[in-house]
Amino acid sequence: MHIHHLSETPSILNTFLAEIRDEVIQKDSMRFRRNIERIGEILGYELSKSLQYNSKKITTPLDNLQAQLHQKDIVLCSILRAGVPLHNGLLNYFDTAENAFISAYRQHKENPESFDIVVEYLACPSLENKTLILADPMLATGQSMVATFEALKPFGTPKEIHLVSVIGAQKGVDFVSENFDTDSHLWIAAIDQKLNEKGYIVPGLGDAGDLAFGTK
Ligand code: URA
Repeated sequence: MHIHHLSETPSILNTFLAEIRDEVIQKDSMRFRRNIERIGEILGYELSKSLQYNSKKITTPLDNLQAQLHQKDIVLCSILRAGVPLHNGLLNYFDTAENAFISAYRQHKENPESFDIVVEYLACPSLENKTLILADPMLATGQSMVATFEALKPFGTPKEIHLVSVIGAQKGVDFVSENFDTDSHLWIAAIDQKLNEKGYIVPGLGDAGDLAFGTK
């Protein structure tokens, strides 16, 4: 897997990351959602550099030129509900993408001993020969990404796979690296070192779904 760890290079991305992590600023859920969306736009822009482009003649009011247009074969899949603001950010750039949604939750909310992922709801177009972008803002254990990809398999074989995350733990990054093909990509803003006993990323930011939608 090709890992693109974007906060290693200083940029405005680091400011947006600081704001979503800050326990005071993150309480403003509208700002939190908007910052995740802005991070999605940056990750999408970086990802766009690895897509395939077709040359097309376009006409301006003054002349013609050959323009480079990305192939319109993207399926953007997000895990509900924390994935929604990240999905919106990616969709701002890949506005012709088809969309897929999956609802997956961690079994440990009912059984504290287990981190198994349960997939409940899935809506997805054909993935055959498409470019799949799979977005999950928090890559903690990596099990949701892998369980989601398993659930998507009946919809066809994508020609390219891009995973997009805002904050990951090293454990989750290692797990997806082991479970996805070597030619797939991970576009991630930050990689933190630890997971706590409840599977939360440390220092992380807390619960992304609760922060985005004002629940506790
Ligand atoms: N999901 C979250 O929202 N936060 C974490 O730290 C891990 C998973």
